[in-house]
Amino acid sequence: MSVRHFLRDDDLSAAEQALVLRRARELKAEPFSRRPLAGPQQVAVLFDKPTLRTQVSFAGAIAGLGGHPLIVDGALAQVGVRESVADTARVLGRQCAAVVWRTYGQDRLEEMAAHAGVPVVNALTDDFHPCQILADLLTITEHRGDPAGLALAYVGDGANNMAHSYLLGGALAGMHVRIGTPRDHEPDDAVLKRAAGLAAEQGGSVSVLHEATAAVDRADVVVTDTWVSMGMEGQKAQRQGTASPFVPFAVTSALMASAATDALFLHCLPAYRGVEVAAEVIDGPQSVVWDEAENRLHAQKALLSFLLEGGA
Ligand code: NVA
Repeated sequence: MSVRHFLRDDDLSAAEQALVLRRARELKAEPFSRRPLAGPQQVAVLFDKPTLRTQVSFAGAIAGLGGHPLIVDGALAQVGVRESVADTARVLGRQCAAVVWRTYGQDRLEEMAAHAGVPVVNALTDDFHPCQILADLLTITEHRGDPAGLALAYVGDGANNMAHSYLLGGALAGMHVRIGTPRDHEPDDAVLKRAAGLAAEQGGSVSVLHEATAAVDRADVVVTDTWVSMGMEGQKAQRQGTASPFVPFAVTSALMASAATDALFLHCLPAYRGVEVAAEVIDGPQSVVWDEAENRLHAQKALLSFLLEGGA
């Protein structure tokens, strides 16, 4: 069997995504029922950008599968500076059962996957954050059942990693994914086209709207993300200021009132209260963000188990 990677949401088929989500629920109920990393075998977890949830949840997932998480600070490793990505991959692949990497360019992750010889997992790049979407789909499933046919409205920066992953991952799950974002912040065209194709196959749809209320209209799930992604800190004043084009896309109680009355609110965190989301929304009864944060652990455990053990 060839080595499987998870570099973007559509590296899993719709059936495989459903299998991973089922396995995540099984592992949440019986946390130590699968031990593909017994030994313990090492999994390298590298961070070129800040982290809290991703580090904690991958460390827990790897340990829970019987393995040893080797957390590598990107500032120490200097992948691509001190040593090429390809050579780093060859070294890691000889000593680790899998490699998990949070970095900038998707091309770096692809190069790692091309040379590691073991599964490589995207723990966030500039383009995608697919592990987060697995956790979100698990959370939606727990609260609303099968996500297929539900409308998910993502409002905020339509060009960032979360928007792209909601498009691909939500489409694979058969959801109706709406991106509410200002002009000039639309998703990447190739990602949008790919998501439209996947959605058509799964009975869902994708759309981009430039008005927040229209995007959220009767949605079952409302999600947002920071307006200043990691690596964009230099644009903070303009993206978060009162003249920011994102201001009309902030998730306030008034905006939530346009969604379905029982709509869920999700946020990948970290959240900035009073900026992209009002405190009364993220701390209110419709918010499931703490379930969502916990579900990173269970979803990533299931993903690693799938990549290492397959579907059985
Ligand atoms: N879009 C955000 C997600 C953080 C988990 C970022 O890339 O910083």
